[in-house]
Amino acid sequence: MTPQSPLTQSPLIIALDYPSLDAALCMADQLDPARCRVKVGKELFTRSGPAVLEALHGRGFEVFLDLKFHDIPNTVAGAVQAAAEQGVWMVNVHAGGGRKMMQAAADRLHANGLQTHLIAVTVLTSMGAEDLNELGITTSPAQHVERLARLAQDSGMEGVVCSAQEAKALSACCGKGFLKVTPGIRPSFAAANDQARIMSPRAAMEAGSTHLVIGRPVTEAPDPMEALTAIEAELAEH
Ligand code: C5P
Repeated sequence: MTPQSPLTQSPLIIALDYPSLDAALCMADQLDPARCRVKVGKELFTRSGPAVLEALHGRGFEVFLDLKFHDIPNTVAGAVQAAAEQGVWMVNVHAGGGRKMMQAAADRLHANGLQTHLIAVTVLTSMGAEDLNELGITTSPAQHVERLARLAQDSGMEGVVCSAQEAKALSACCGKGFLKVTPGIRPSFAAANDQARIMSPRAAMEAGSTHLVIGRPVTEAPDPMEALTAIEAELAEH
């Protein structure tokens, strides 16, 4: 399945945070590719390699490859090209890699006619003001997120991964069309788990999120499609 033929209009991206190909596919087989996309992260990809992408594409899923590349421009451009050539729907880099790195990655996709969505991570939500301070960044995390989002947009990124709490401010500074892919989402029926700052799917969309990354509320539900249906119902409420 190529990224040029979108399979779903759903904003939902289900995080397949599993340590093996078999476990990830066992979950994917319970989901409907017409009603969600899936996210493959560092552990699953490092263990299973491109085979997981092939298997998910073969099942009709669009895949967000969440590897957060951060390296010299040429290296990141090559990695992003490799991801796109494997047909992933979305891939990401760290905005902290700077303008040249992000531009090189975006240019490489365009030069090769690759349609994969390229977005950036601004500040990891695990980083607080003190952590930033240790890195010599004295502005607040919110200000730094905004600065990196503007830089990402200016460098050809289509959007950012951000918390839903940041989505409103980022819509104001970067526009509604700038993608805001937000984790930390908890539907009304789900436990918070280890997420500290959570938002409901509907509140996150209203705040300006364009896509919602949801893991355990779906993957640990007794019936994952039932959980997905409940989330769709929450999104549809008026
Ligand atoms: O299970 P849960 O819904 O908390 O999973 C959220 C997913 O989003 C996980 O894959 C997690 O690594 C990812 N994520 C996050 N917070 C961020 C960035 C990514 O929870 N700031």
